[in-house]
Amino acid sequence: MQFLADADLSLSQALRDIHRRAVEQPIEGRVADYIPALATVDPIRCGIAFATLDGEVHTAGDAELPFSIQSISKVFGLVLAMQRMGDGLWRRVGMEPSGQPFNSIVQLEWEHGIPRNPFINAGAILVADTLVSHFSSSRQAFLSFVRRLAGSEYCDVNDEVLASETRHGSRNAALAYLMKSFGNLEAEVDEVLAHYFFQCSVEMSCKELATSLLFLANQGMHPITGEKVTSPRDAHRVNAILSTSGMYDQSGQFAFAVGLPAKSGVGGGIVAIVPGHGVIAAWSPPLNRHGNSTRGLSMITELASRLGLSIF
Ligand code: DON
Repeated sequence: MQFLADADLSLSQALRDIHRRAVEQPIEGRVADYIPALATVDPIRCGIAFATLDGEVHTAGDAELPFSIQSISKVFGLVLAMQRMGDGLWRRVGMEPSGQPFNSIVQLEWEHGIPRNPFINAGAILVADTLVSHFSSSRQAFLSFVRRLAGSEYCDVNDEVLASETRHGSRNAALAYLMKSFGNLEAEVDEVLAHYFFQCSVEMSCKELATSLLFLANQGMHPITGEKVTSPRDAHRVNAILSTSGMYDQSGQFAFAVGLPAKSGVGGGIVAIVPGHGVIAAWSPPLNRHGNSTRGLSMITELASRLGLSIF
């Protein structure tokens, strides 16, 4: 990889350049407002962090400000469920891209209540069901997991976002009830949704997010805590599904342009795994029509191209 030859200084410089270019462009896209509390975020916030396996975190812009991780929480939920459930999980959720928007319901009925993958809303609600069924307090387990991985006690839920998600969660409730009607949800729908809304409402900074997911760039072993979070096989599997489904119905285009396993959230965050090297986390709230951050996409695309990061 080109950037290894240039060492840390050039990585920090590249992040600063890319961040400056991104904020000089006119803002495209719109901040998510279907969860009203998300609409109050300042659209000009913009940050990027690159955590490397040696424990360094290079940053530019608002990389230390916490924001709503939203669907990025689906990665942590999936890993926690894989730790508990083993291969049985894959009988209840698939591993194929959906080609549909993240909250689509039509495919779920055609496919008898089995969500296409764990990163669309239906899939993450199914994963939440397994967590609720396996932990006495799944929300606490989720938060402890994330805090441990991020090395920060400060990651916490935003109660206002949680209340707003819960009040405006009819579409997610419809997905959960449909899966329940097919017998693919074990716990009570209210309990499952409470967990799902909770994990989406957690806030983390780019720096914390990039640090927390380092294990996915290191065959399952967190290089800072030394924790074996997943087996190398499961780290491979998570990265594979991130590559095909992490950016929703823009995953193909993202693979084409960038070539890294990645996950976005409607809070404006995007994380991208650089296997063997580190994790990039970018944040800028305005979203394109697929629900992906416009400036986040352009910063990660430019960084990957400048440093030759594509896995393909
Ligand atoms: O359930 C929802 O719709 C949100 N809490 C999360 C969706 C999301 O982040 C999709 N990401 N691009």
